[in-house]
Amino acid sequence: MQTPSGKTFVRTLVTSALPYANGDIHLGHLAGAYLPADIFVRYLRLRGEPVLFICGTDEYGVPITLAAEKLGITPKELVDRNYASISSSFAAFGISFDNFSQTSRPVHTETSQEFFLDLHRRDLLVQKTTKQFFSPSQQRFLADRYIEGTCPKCGSTGARGDQCEACGTSLDPTELIEPRNVLDSSPLELRDTTHWFLPLGRWQERLETWLAGHPEWKDNVRQYCRGWFADGLDDRAVTRDLGWGVPVPLADHEGKVFYVWFEAPIGYISATREWAAAQGDAECWRTWWQDPSTRLVHFIGKDNIFFHALMFPAMLMVNSQDWVLPDDVPANEFLNLEGRKLSTSRGFAVWLPEYLETFTPDPLRYTLARNLPETRDMNFTWEGFQARNNNELGNNFGNLINRVLTFIHKYFDGRVPQWSEAALTDLDRQALQDVESDLANWAAALERFSVKDALEAAFHAGQVGNRYFDESAPFRSRKDDLVRCEQSLGVAVQIIRHLAVMLAPVVPFAMEKVWAWLGLETPLWRGGWAEASRPVPAGRQLGRPEILFPRLEDEVIAREVERLRKLIGD
Ligand code: MF3
Ligand code: ZN
Repeated sequence: MQTPSGKTFVRTLVTSALPYANGDIHLGHLAGAYLPADIFVRYLRLRGEPVLFICGTDEYGVPITLAAEKLGITPKELVDRNYASISSSFAAFGISFDNFSQTSRPVHTETSQEFFLDLHRRDLLVQKTTKQFFSPSQQRFLADRYIEGTCPKCGSTGARGDQCEACGTSLDPTELIEPRNVLDSSPLELRDTTHWFLPLGRWQERLETWLAGHPEWKDNVRQYCRGWFADGLDDRAVTRDLGWGVPVPLADHEGKVFYVWFEAPIGYISATREWAAAQGDAECWRTWWQDPSTRLVHFIGKDNIFFHALMFPAMLMVNSQDWVLPDDVPANEFLNLEGRKLSTSRGFAVWLPEYLETFTPDPLRYTLARNLPETRDMNFTWEGFQARNNNELGNNFGNLINRVLTFIHKYFDGRVPQWSEAALTDLDRQALQDVESDLANWAAALERFSVKDALEAAFHAGQVGNRYFDESAPFRSRKDDLVRCEQSLGVAVQIIRHLAVMLAPVVPFAMEKVWAWLGLETPLWRGGWAEASRPVPAGRQLGRPEILFPRLEDEVIAREVERLRKLIGD
């Protein structure tokens, strides 16, 4: 296989940004980094291409320790709890990771420490001493969010070290008047502290040359990078004074851990190692990360571009081992909800576990895929969700599949009627050609990570199928031209076979059923496309269809709209 950049590869390693383990997954997360990646991975599995899909929770850092303190539990208890809930809702939603790990596991401690030591030993990191607030009462340095004081701008008390909530000014803790420890209100002292940094500026040229070799990347990603290059890359912190994180593996570094943005991306490697060990082939992770015939693709939201397009690639480049660099970093823009920005602090979001209590995964997968913020911010509305389900999934796709299979069961005992390629009429041939070309467009769109274009092609194929069924009218020819009737039904089954392929990555739960009804035997996710490329022969027994996409009634939708209204106090 070849990428648009011309690279040939034999396997694809796909990652989705590691979600923070400090809350549940919501629609914005799904649309950014998880659903598009899952669709791409399922597409490759359908083609029988070797692919590995890696993710896990990002469990270190200050927001986690703050949240744990609020609940009166340890950070580890908090992340384990959230890990359990996040991984089970992803699974229920059909996000089909090969491994979903945690950065608090020993394999990650080991992997990230090795990575750090490799850079440290070869003098690639720089050390700098800065002044930071130290809490004598707790005998530790405090992160910005553990510091509060009076805002120098608006004078309100209770401003945090990183920001004043009252007036919105972002702050440096040294600007606060009378800075204190958030936890016990004790006074603080400024003390010297020494940290390691990645001197990204030294590697800027290498990064620029490398990125220049990827003109096929999405414009948003390339534009952000160009902007950072123009400003000049700065040193980036590798270590922090904090009790919760991967310990810095050097003498005299007690109380210091890795900065999350240094170790979290290494979590992709750790999770692959963990997967390899579970396969009983502990070293095979190297093939996925170090063999140049691997294509590495990071799916992320736009707020993660710097780390995946610049910082982590730089870390991989300067490490002494030969790492594969990302071949593409398809970053998505943001998703709004009912015309407003999502706000997790106010709970203004649609949370995945809540969604799954009322609905099945497919309609949301489909609606989000149709509205993905691929090139600009997009908007999700519950009304739009209902319309996509009822009009597109139900009326366009479900109806066609149902009409054809029900008809065959009613009049032909559920066996594919007599049809042949030799007997195709112009109408038959045109319909089949149309869906063939939709299928080609669908695949080409997915190759360039354009799920929306791919679905447009699938939707068109559904329309072709419905029009074909109406025009070839087997319900009429059944009475006066049985040969013609059977031929039309045979052709309609072939159209459905194409639809099953095009829809499978997006609505896998429904299409697994259709797959079985068509009597296709190759497992869908292990190269099913090859079997689906061959005609379904006359005489094959078909499964009895059921409603694939039940209608969503107004009351159900109104309830969800109401819930959101209450949150914003409308
Ligand atoms: N937790 C981060 C976020 O949700 C993403 C981390 S991606 C990783 O924005 F590569 F650093 F792991
Ligand atoms: Zn203020």
